[in-house]
Amino acid sequence: MDDSATLWHGRFDGDPAQALRAVGDSFGFDRRMFREDIAGSRAHATMLASVGLLTADERDAISAALDVVEAEMTEGRFAVAPGDEDIHTAVERRVTELAPAGAKLHTGRSRNDQVAADLRLWTRTALGDVTAAVLGLQRTLLSRAADAGAALLPGYTHLQQAQPVLLAHHLLAHGWALARDVERLAEARRRADVSPLGAGALAGSSLPLDPAQTAAELGFAAVFDNSLDAVADRDFVADALYALTVLGVHLSRMGEELVIWSSSEFGFVELDDAYATGSSMMPQKKNPDVAELARAKAGRLIGHLTGLLATLKGLPLAYAKDLQEDKEPLFDAVDTVRLTLAALDGMLATARFDTDRMADAASSPYAAATDLAEWLVARGTPFRAAHAAVAGLVRRSLAGEGSLADLVAAAAGFGPDAAALLEPGASAARRITPGAGGPEAVAAQMQRFRQRIETDAADLG
Ligand code: ARG
Repeated sequence: MDDSATLWHGRFDGDPAQALRAVGDSFGFDRRMFREDIAGSRAHATMLASVGLLTADERDAISAALDVVEAEMTEGRFAVAPGDEDIHTAVERRVTELAPAGAKLHTGRSRNDQVAADLRLWTRTALGDVTAAVLGLQRTLLSRAADAGAALLPGYTHLQQAQPVLLAHHLLAHGWALARDVERLAEARRRADVSPLGAGALAGSSLPLDPAQTAAELGFAAVFDNSLDAVADRDFVADALYALTVLGVHLSRMGEELVIWSSSEFGFVELDDAYATGSSMMPQKKNPDVAELARAKAGRLIGHLTGLLATLKGLPLAYAKDLQEDKEPLFDAVDTVRLTLAALDGMLATARFDTDRMADAASSPYAAATDLAEWLVARGTPFRAAHAAVAGLVRRSLAGEGSLADLVAAAAGFGPDAAALLEPGASAARRITPGAGGPEAVAAQMQRFRQRIETDAADLG
Protein backbone atom coordinates (compact mmCIF):
# COMPACT_ATOMS: atom_id res chain seq x y z
CA MET A 1 0.00 0.00 0.00
CA ASP A 2 1.17 3.50 -0.87
CA ASP A 3 1.93 5.21 2.45
CA SER A 4 1.02 8.66 1.20
CA ALA A 5 -2.35 7.61 -0.16
CA THR A 6 -4.65 8.67 2.70
CA LEU A 7 -4.62 10.28 6.14
CA TRP A 8 -5.86 7.03 7.63
CA HIS A 9 -3.76 4.37 5.87
CA GLY A 10 -2.13 3.22 9.13
CA ARG A 11 -5.01 0.88 9.98
CA PHE A 12 -5.46 -0.56 6.50
CA ASP A 13 -3.67 -3.20 4.42
CA GLY A 14 -5.08 -2.32 1.03
CA ASP A 15 -5.58 0.79 -1.07
CA PRO A 16 -8.98 2.43 -1.42
CA ALA A 17 -11.01 1.40 -4.45
CA GLN A 18 -11.24 3.82 -7.31
CA ALA A 19 -15.01 3.93 -6.88
CA LEU A 20 -14.67 4.80 -3.19
CA ARG A 21 -12.42 7.68 -4.06
CA ALA A 22 -14.76 8.81 -6.80
CA VAL A 23 -17.80 8.89 -4.56
CA GLY A 24 -16.02 9.99 -1.41
CA ASP A 25 -13.52 12.64 -2.46
CA SER A 26 -14.72 16.18 -1.95
CA PHE A 27 -11.65 18.16 -3.00
CA GLY A 28 -13.33 18.98 -6.33
CA PHE A 29 -15.85 21.19 -4.53
CA ASP A 30 -14.52 21.85 -1.04
CA ARG A 31 -11.29 23.40 -2.35
CA ARG A 32 -13.47 26.47 -2.54
CA MET A 33 -12.97 26.78 1.23
CA PHE A 34 -9.17 26.89 1.05
CA ARG A 35 -8.91 30.36 2.58
CA GLU A 36 -11.08 29.29 5.50
CA ASP A 37 -9.19 26.04 5.93
CA ILE A 38 -5.86 27.86 5.99
CA ALA A 39 -7.15 30.53 8.41
CA GLY A 40 -8.48 27.77 10.67
CA SER A 41 -5.16 25.93 10.58
CA ARG A 42 -3.28 29.11 11.39
CA ALA A 43 -5.54 29.80 14.37
CA HIS A 44 -5.23 26.20 15.53
CA ALA A 45 -1.41 26.30 15.33
CA THR A 46 -1.35 29.58 17.25
CA MET A 47 -3.51 28.05 19.97
CA LEU A 48 -1.39 24.87 20.09
CA ALA A 49 1.70 27.01 20.65
CA SER A 50 0.10 29.06 23.39
CA VAL A 51 -0.90 25.93 25.33
CA GLY A 52 2.58 24.45 24.88
CA LEU A 53 1.78 21.78 22.29
CA LEU A 54 3.95 23.48 19.63
CA THR A 55 7.14 25.47 20.09
CA ALA A 56 7.19 29.02 18.78
CA ASP A 57 9.52 27.85 15.99
CA GLU A 58 7.17 25.04 14.99
CA ARG A 59 4.23 27.46 14.96
CA ASP A 60 6.17 29.91 12.79
CA ALA A 61 7.27 27.18 10.40
CA ILE A 62 3.67 25.99 10.04
CA SER A 63 2.45 29.52 9.56
CA ALA A 64 5.06 30.21 6.87
CA ALA A 65 4.11 26.96 5.11
CA LEU A 66 0.45 27.97 5.27
CA ASP A 67 1.38 31.27 3.58
CA VAL A 68 3.00 29.30 0.76
CA VAL A 69 -0.01 27.02 0.35
CA GLU A 70 -2.33 30.02 0.34
CA ALA A 71 -0.27 31.69 -2.39
CA GLU A 72 -0.17 28.48 -4.43
CA MET A 73 -3.92 28.06 -4.19
CA THR A 74 -4.74 31.71 -4.80
CA GLU A 75 -2.52 31.78 -7.88
CA GLY A 76 -3.86 28.49 -9.18
CA ARG A 77 -0.49 26.70 -9.07
CA PHE A 78 -1.19 24.30 -6.21
CA ALA A 79 -0.12 20.81 -7.29
CA VAL A 80 -2.82 18.34 -6.31
CA ALA A 81 -1.51 14.97 -5.08
CA PRO A 82 -3.35 11.68 -5.66
CA GLY A 83 -4.23 11.35 -1.96
CA ASP A 84 -5.79 14.82 -1.62
CA GLU A 85 -9.30 13.62 -0.87
CA ASP A 86 -10.50 16.93 0.52
CA ILE A 87 -9.26 20.45 1.19
CA HIS A 88 -8.16 19.56 4.73
CA THR A 89 -6.05 16.65 3.55
CA ALA A 90 -4.54 18.68 0.72
CA VAL A 91 -3.53 21.62 2.91
CA GLU A 92 -2.06 19.45 5.66
CA ARG A 93 -0.20 17.27 3.18
CA ARG A 94 1.40 20.26 1.49
CA VAL A 95 2.21 22.06 4.78
CA THR A 96 3.98 18.93 6.01
CA GLU A 97 6.00 18.72 2.77
CA LEU A 98 7.10 22.31 3.32
CA ALA A 99 7.68 22.09 7.10
CA PRO A 100 8.19 18.89 9.11
CA ALA A 101 6.34 20.52 12.02
CA GLY A 102 3.23 20.16 9.85
CA ALA A 103 3.00 16.60 11.23
CA LYS A 104 1.88 18.21 14.51
CA LEU A 105 -0.79 20.42 12.96
CA HIS A 106 -3.58 17.90 13.42
CA THR A 107 -2.92 17.67 17.17
CA GLY A 108 -6.24 17.85 19.04
CA ARG A 109 -8.13 18.35 15.81
CA SER A 110 -10.30 16.22 13.55
CA ARG A 111 -11.56 16.93 10.09
CA ASN A 112 -14.97 16.80 11.73
CA ASP A 113 -14.53 20.00 13.72
CA GLN A 114 -12.31 21.40 10.99
CA VAL A 115 -14.85 21.06 8.18
CA ALA A 116 -17.61 22.52 10.33
CA ALA A 117 -15.38 25.50 11.14
CA ASP A 118 -14.42 26.03 7.49
CA LEU A 119 -18.00 25.91 6.32
CA ARG A 120 -19.16 28.28 9.06
CA LEU A 121 -16.50 30.79 8.07
CA TRP A 122 -17.35 30.39 4.41
CA THR A 123 -21.08 30.84 5.09
CA ARG A 124 -20.50 33.96 7.16
CA THR A 125 -18.62 35.63 4.30
CA ALA A 126 -20.89 34.38 1.52
CA LEU A 127 -24.07 35.56 3.22
CA GLY A 128 -22.46 38.95 3.75
CA ASP A 129 -21.73 39.16 0.02
CA VAL A 130 -25.30 38.15 -0.83
CA THR A 131 -26.60 40.79 1.58
CA ALA A 132 -24.54 43.48 -0.16
CA ALA A 133 -26.07 42.44 -3.49
CA VAL A 134 -29.58 42.55 -2.01
CA LEU A 135 -28.92 46.08 -0.78
CA GLY A 136 -27.83 46.94 -4.33
CA LEU A 137 -31.13 45.70 -5.74
CA GLN A 138 -33.01 47.63 -3.06
CA ARG A 139 -31.19 50.80 -4.09
CA THR A 140 -32.21 50.18 -7.70
CA LEU A 141 -35.84 49.73 -6.65
CA LEU A 142 -35.63 52.92 -4.60
CA SER A 143 -34.21 54.96 -7.43
CA ARG A 144 -36.75 53.60 -9.92
CA ALA A 145 -39.48 54.39 -7.39
CA ALA A 146 -38.16 57.93 -6.96
CA ASP A 147 -38.04 58.37 -10.78
CA ALA A 148 -41.61 57.10 -11.10
CA GLY A 149 -42.98 60.21 -9.36
CA ALA A 150 -46.78 60.23 -9.43
CA ALA A 151 -47.14 57.54 -12.12
CA LEU A 152 -50.07 55.22 -11.42
CA LEU A 153 -50.76 51.65 -12.34
CA PRO A 154 -53.59 49.34 -11.42
CA GLY A 155 -52.98 47.40 -8.23
CA TYR A 156 -54.13 43.81 -8.68
CA THR A 157 -55.69 41.08 -6.63
CA HIS A 158 -56.29 37.73 -8.33
CA LEU A 159 -54.44 39.42 -11.23
CA GLN A 160 -57.67 41.39 -11.78
CA GLN A 161 -57.53 45.16 -11.64
CA ALA A 162 -58.35 46.19 -8.09
CA GLN A 163 -57.37 49.73 -7.02
CA PRO A 164 -54.87 52.11 -8.63
CA VAL A 165 -51.63 52.67 -6.74
CA LEU A 166 -48.44 54.54 -7.43
CA LEU A 167 -45.86 52.66 -9.48
CA ALA A 168 -43.44 53.72 -6.75
CA HIS A 169 -45.61 51.93 -4.18
CA HIS A 170 -45.51 48.74 -6.20
CA LEU A 171 -41.73 48.86 -6.64
CA LEU A 172 -41.19 49.57 -2.95
CA ALA A 173 -43.37 46.59 -2.03
CA HIS A 174 -40.67 44.36 -3.52
CA GLY A 175 -38.07 46.44 -1.70
CA TRP A 176 -39.65 45.73 1.69
CA ALA A 177 -39.73 42.00 0.98
CA LEU A 178 -36.00 42.24 0.33
CA ALA A 179 -35.58 44.10 3.64
CA ARG A 180 -36.90 41.00 5.38
CA ASP A 181 -34.40 38.93 3.39
CA VAL A 182 -31.65 41.14 4.75
CA GLU A 183 -32.91 40.34 8.27
CA ARG A 184 -33.03 36.62 7.58
CA LEU A 185 -29.54 36.65 6.06
CA ALA A 186 -28.21 38.51 9.12
CA GLU A 187 -29.81 35.95 11.42
CA ALA A 188 -28.34 33.07 9.39
CA ARG A 189 -24.91 34.74 9.57
CA ARG A 190 -25.29 35.09 13.33
CA ARG A 191 -26.11 31.40 13.65
CA ALA A 192 -23.11 30.40 11.54
CA ASP A 193 -20.89 32.53 13.76
CA VAL A 194 -20.13 29.85 16.38
CA SER A 195 -16.79 28.05 16.49
CA PRO A 196 -16.80 24.22 16.59
CA LEU A 197 -12.98 24.03 16.83
CA GLY A 198 -11.81 22.02 19.80
CA ALA A 199 -14.65 19.52 19.54
CA GLY A 200 -12.23 17.08 17.94
CA ALA A 201 -13.78 14.12 16.18
CA LEU A 202 -16.77 14.17 18.56
CA ALA A 203 -15.66 14.21 22.20
CA GLY A 204 -13.14 16.99 22.73
CA SER A 205 -9.58 16.16 23.71
CA SER A 206 -7.37 15.05 26.57
CA LEU A 207 -4.89 17.71 25.47
CA PRO A 208 -5.12 21.19 27.02
CA LEU A 209 -6.81 22.84 24.02
CA ASP A 210 -8.29 26.32 24.28
CA PRO A 211 -11.37 26.52 22.05
CA ALA A 212 -12.07 30.10 23.11
CA GLN A 213 -8.71 31.18 21.77
CA THR A 214 -9.19 29.63 18.31
CA ALA A 215 -12.68 31.11 18.20
CA ALA A 216 -11.34 34.57 19.01
CA GLU A 217 -8.50 34.25 16.47
CA LEU A 218 -11.06 33.53 13.75
CA GLY A 219 -13.43 36.27 14.86
CA PHE A 220 -16.20 33.86 15.83
CA ALA A 221 -18.79 35.45 18.13
CA ALA A 222 -19.26 32.31 20.24
CA VAL A 223 -17.84 28.85 21.03
CA PHE A 224 -19.64 25.49 20.93
CA ASP A 225 -21.14 24.13 24.15
CA ASN A 226 -21.25 20.44 23.30
CA SER A 227 -18.64 18.64 21.23
CA LEU A 228 -21.12 16.13 19.74
CA ASP A 229 -23.43 18.90 18.67
CA ALA A 230 -20.52 20.98 17.36
CA VAL A 231 -19.57 18.37 14.74
CA ALA A 232 -23.08 17.09 13.97
CA ASP A 233 -24.87 20.43 13.63
CA ARG A 234 -25.66 21.70 10.16
CA ASP A 235 -28.60 23.87 11.20
CA PHE A 236 -26.59 26.86 10.07
CA VAL A 237 -26.53 25.48 6.53
CA ALA A 238 -30.28 24.89 6.62
CA ASP A 239 -30.79 28.42 7.99
CA ALA A 240 -28.63 29.85 5.22
CA LEU A 241 -30.48 27.82 2.56
CA TYR A 242 -33.83 28.90 3.95
CA ALA A 243 -32.83 32.57 3.88
CA LEU A 244 -31.49 32.17 0.33
CA THR A 245 -34.57 30.27 -0.79
CA VAL A 246 -37.03 32.86 0.51
CA LEU A 247 -34.93 35.51 -1.22
CA GLY A 248 -35.05 33.39 -4.38
CA VAL A 249 -38.82 33.16 -4.09
CA HIS A 250 -39.00 36.96 -3.90
CA LEU A 251 -36.81 37.29 -6.97
CA SER A 252 -39.04 34.78 -8.69
CA ARG A 253 -42.13 36.87 -7.97
CA MET A 254 -40.39 39.96 -9.33
CA GLY A 255 -39.33 37.98 -12.38
CA GLU A 256 -42.86 36.78 -13.01
CA GLU A 257 -44.18 40.34 -12.89
CA LEU A 258 -41.59 41.52 -15.36
CA VAL A 259 -42.59 38.65 -17.66
CA ILE A 260 -46.23 39.73 -17.48
CA TRP A 261 -45.53 43.45 -17.66
CA SER A 262 -43.30 43.09 -20.72
CA SER A 263 -45.92 41.12 -22.68
CA SER A 264 -47.60 43.08 -25.48
CA GLU A 265 -50.94 42.52 -23.74
CA PHE A 266 -49.75 44.49 -20.70
CA GLY A 267 -47.01 46.61 -22.25
CA PHE A 268 -46.12 48.18 -18.90
CA VAL A 269 -42.41 47.78 -19.39
CA GLU A 270 -39.94 47.58 -22.23
CA LEU A 271 -36.75 45.75 -21.47
CA ASP A 272 -33.47 47.22 -22.50
CA ASP A 273 -31.87 45.37 -25.43
CA ALA A 274 -28.97 44.43 -23.17
CA TYR A 275 -31.37 42.52 -20.91
CA ALA A 276 -33.61 40.92 -23.52
CA THR A 277 -33.11 38.13 -26.01
CA GLY A 278 -34.40 37.54 -29.51
CA SER A 279 -35.74 34.49 -31.28
CA SER A 280 -33.78 32.44 -33.78
CA MET A 281 -36.91 32.07 -35.90
CA MET A 282 -39.36 34.84 -35.12
CA PRO A 283 -37.77 38.18 -36.02
CA GLN A 284 -40.23 40.29 -34.02
CA LYS A 285 -39.54 38.68 -30.65
CA LYS A 286 -38.01 40.32 -27.60
CA ASN A 287 -37.93 37.84 -24.76
CA PRO A 288 -37.52 38.41 -21.01
CA ASP A 289 -35.13 35.48 -20.39
CA VAL A 290 -33.55 37.05 -17.31
CA ALA A 291 -36.93 37.47 -15.65
CA GLU A 292 -37.92 33.92 -16.61
CA LEU A 293 -34.71 32.54 -15.14
CA ALA A 294 -35.26 34.56 -11.96
CA ARG A 295 -38.64 32.86 -11.83
CA ALA A 296 -37.15 29.43 -12.47
CA LYS A 297 -34.10 29.51 -10.20
CA ALA A 298 -36.30 29.46 -7.11
CA GLY A 299 -37.13 25.84 -7.95
CA ARG A 300 -33.52 24.86 -7.71
CA LEU A 301 -33.14 26.68 -4.38
CA ILE A 302 -36.17 24.95 -2.94
CA GLY A 303 -34.59 21.68 -4.07
CA HIS A 304 -31.36 22.45 -2.25
CA LEU A 305 -33.18 23.33 0.98
CA THR A 306 -35.39 20.25 0.95
CA GLY A 307 -32.46 18.08 -0.15
CA LEU A 308 -30.34 19.17 2.80
CA LEU A 309 -33.18 18.68 5.29
CA ALA A 310 -33.69 15.19 3.90
CA THR A 311 -29.97 14.49 4.33
CA LEU A 312 -30.03 15.66 7.95
CA LYS A 313 -33.21 13.95 9.05
CA GLY A 314 -32.60 10.76 10.98
CA LEU A 315 -28.80 11.15 11.11
CA PRO A 316 -27.47 9.71 14.34
CA LEU A 317 -24.98 11.78 16.34
CA ALA A 318 -22.34 12.79 15.67
CA TYR A 319 -20.49 13.14 12.37
CA ALA A 320 -21.40 10.93 9.44
CA LYS A 321 -20.11 11.26 5.91
CA ASP A 322 -23.63 12.21 4.87
CA LEU A 323 -22.72 15.65 6.17
CA GLN A 324 -20.31 16.09 3.29
CA GLU A 325 -23.44 16.55 1.17
CA ASP A 326 -24.00 19.95 2.81
CA LYS A 327 -21.55 21.90 0.69
CA GLU A 328 -22.62 21.55 -2.93
CA PRO A 329 -26.21 22.70 -2.30
CA LEU A 330 -25.01 25.63 -0.23
CA PHE A 331 -22.36 26.67 -2.75
CA ASP A 332 -24.80 26.38 -5.62
CA ALA A 333 -27.51 28.27 -3.73
CA VAL A 334 -25.14 31.16 -3.04
CA ASP A 335 -23.92 31.20 -6.66
CA THR A 336 -27.46 31.00 -8.00
CA VAL A 337 -28.77 33.81 -5.84
CA ARG A 338 -25.82 36.07 -6.63
CA LEU A 339 -26.18 35.52 -10.38
CA THR A 340 -29.90 36.13 -10.26
CA LEU A 341 -29.59 39.25 -8.11
CA ALA A 342 -27.05 40.80 -10.46
CA ALA A 343 -29.08 40.03 -13.59
CA LEU A 344 -32.39 41.18 -12.16
CA ASP A 345 -30.78 44.34 -10.79
CA GLY A 346 -29.42 45.20 -14.23
CA MET A 347 -32.71 44.38 -15.89
CA LEU A 348 -34.68 46.62 -13.52
CA ALA A 349 -32.18 49.45 -13.63
CA THR A 350 -32.40 49.65 -17.43
CA ALA A 351 -36.08 48.82 -18.05
CA ARG A 352 -38.33 51.57 -19.45
CA PHE A 353 -41.68 51.79 -17.74
CA ASP A 354 -44.48 52.81 -20.06
CA THR A 355 -46.28 55.00 -17.57
CA ASP A 356 -48.86 56.07 -20.18
CA ARG A 357 -49.92 52.46 -20.69
CA MET A 358 -50.04 51.98 -16.94
CA ALA A 359 -52.06 55.18 -16.45
CA ASP A 360 -54.51 54.07 -19.14
CA ALA A 361 -54.97 50.74 -17.45
CA ALA A 362 -55.35 52.45 -14.07
CA SER A 363 -57.93 54.94 -15.35
CA SER A 364 -60.86 52.51 -15.51
CA PRO A 365 -63.60 54.15 -13.43
CA TYR A 366 -64.42 50.76 -11.93
CA ALA A 367 -61.06 50.80 -10.15
CA ALA A 368 -62.40 53.65 -8.00
CA ALA A 369 -65.44 51.66 -6.83
CA THR A 370 -64.02 50.99 -3.36
CA ASP A 371 -63.14 54.64 -2.89
CA LEU A 372 -66.65 55.56 -3.94
CA ALA A 373 -68.07 53.26 -1.28
CA GLU A 374 -65.70 54.84 1.27
CA TRP A 375 -66.95 58.28 0.17
CA LEU A 376 -70.44 57.21 1.23
CA VAL A 377 -69.12 55.73 4.48
CA ALA A 378 -67.47 59.06 5.30
CA ARG A 379 -70.98 60.56 5.03
CA GLY A 380 -72.53 58.10 7.47
CA THR A 381 -73.58 55.11 5.33
CA PRO A 382 -72.69 51.69 6.82
CA PHE A 383 -70.02 50.06 4.65
CA ARG A 384 -72.20 47.08 3.65
CA ALA A 385 -74.92 49.40 2.36
CA ALA A 386 -72.34 51.58 0.59
CA HIS A 387 -70.82 48.49 -1.06
CA ALA A 388 -74.26 47.44 -2.29
CA ALA A 389 -75.11 50.90 -3.58
CA VAL A 390 -71.90 51.15 -5.61
CA ALA A 391 -72.23 47.56 -6.83
CA GLY A 392 -75.70 48.42 -8.14
CA LEU A 393 -74.33 51.34 -10.15
CA VAL A 394 -71.47 49.20 -11.48
CA ARG A 395 -73.96 46.57 -12.63
CA ARG A 396 -76.10 49.16 -14.39
CA SER A 397 -73.08 50.66 -16.10
CA LEU A 398 -71.82 47.24 -17.21
CA ALA A 399 -75.33 46.50 -18.52
CA GLY A 400 -75.02 49.53 -20.81
CA GLU A 401 -77.19 52.06 -18.97
CA GLY A 402 -74.47 54.71 -19.12
CA SER A 403 -70.95 55.52 -17.97
CA LEU A 404 -70.30 54.93 -14.30
CA ALA A 405 -69.52 58.63 -13.88
CA ASP A 406 -72.87 59.68 -15.34
CA LEU A 407 -74.77 57.17 -13.23
CA VAL A 408 -72.92 58.27 -10.07
CA ALA A 409 -73.51 61.94 -10.83
CA ALA A 410 -77.24 61.30 -11.19
CA ALA A 411 -77.73 58.82 -8.35
CA ALA A 412 -79.41 59.76 -5.06
CA GLY A 413 -76.87 60.05 -2.25
CA PHE A 414 -73.98 60.50 -4.73
CA GLY A 415 -73.78 63.46 -7.14
CA PRO A 416 -71.04 65.33 -9.02
CA ASP A 417 -68.55 65.39 -6.08
CA ALA A 418 -68.70 61.63 -5.92
CA ALA A 419 -68.40 61.35 -9.70
CA ALA A 420 -65.20 63.44 -9.54
CA LEU A 421 -63.61 60.55 -7.64
CA LEU A 422 -63.70 58.57 -10.86
CA GLU A 423 -61.26 60.96 -12.56
CA PRO A 424 -57.93 59.22 -13.17
CA GLY A 425 -55.68 59.54 -10.13
CA ALA A 426 -58.35 61.13 -7.93
CA SER A 427 -59.07 58.07 -5.86
CA ALA A 428 -55.42 57.08 -5.38
CA ALA A 429 -54.61 60.57 -4.12
CA ARG A 430 -57.16 60.11 -1.34
CA ARG A 431 -55.37 57.06 0.04
CA ILE A 432 -53.42 58.80 2.76
CA THR A 433 -53.30 56.22 5.56
CA PRO A 434 -49.83 55.11 6.73
CA GLY A 435 -48.34 52.63 4.27
CA ALA A 436 -51.03 53.32 1.66
CA GLY A 437 -50.50 53.58 -2.08
CA GLY A 438 -51.29 57.29 -2.54
CA PRO A 439 -48.67 60.00 -3.16
CA GLU A 440 -48.36 61.43 0.38
CA ALA A 441 -48.13 58.06 2.09
CA VAL A 442 -45.66 56.81 -0.50
CA ALA A 443 -43.42 59.84 -0.04
CA ALA A 444 -43.20 59.07 3.68
CA GLN A 445 -42.66 55.39 2.98
CA MET A 446 -39.85 56.17 0.55
CA GLN A 447 -38.07 58.09 3.30
CA ARG A 448 -38.38 55.17 5.67
CA PHE A 449 -37.18 52.75 3.02
CA ARG A 450 -34.12 54.90 2.23
CA GLN A 451 -33.36 55.04 5.96
CA ARG A 452 -33.76 51.29 6.29
CA ILE A 453 -31.27 50.62 3.48
CA GLU A 454 -28.76 52.93 5.13
CA THR A 455 -29.16 51.26 8.53
CA ASP A 456 -28.84 47.78 7.03
CA ALA A 457 -25.80 48.79 5.00
CA ALA A 458 -24.16 50.22 8.14
CA ASP A 459 -24.91 47.00 10.05
CA LEU A 460 -23.30 44.98 7.29
CA GLY A 461 -20.20 47.16 7.59
N1 ARG B 1 -14.67 16.02 3.47
C1 ARG B 1 -15.31 15.77 4.70
C2 ARG B 1 -16.65 16.53 4.77
O1 ARG B 1 -16.83 17.41 4.02
C3 ARG B 1 -14.44 16.19 5.84
C4 ARG B 1 -14.72 15.47 7.11
C5 ARG B 1 -14.27 14.07 7.00
N2 ARG B 1 -14.37 13.39 8.25
C6 ARG B 1 -14.31 12.07 8.34
N3 ARG B 1 -14.40 11.58 9.50
N4 ARG B 1 -14.21 11.32 7.27
O2 ARG B 1 -17.51 16.22 5.58
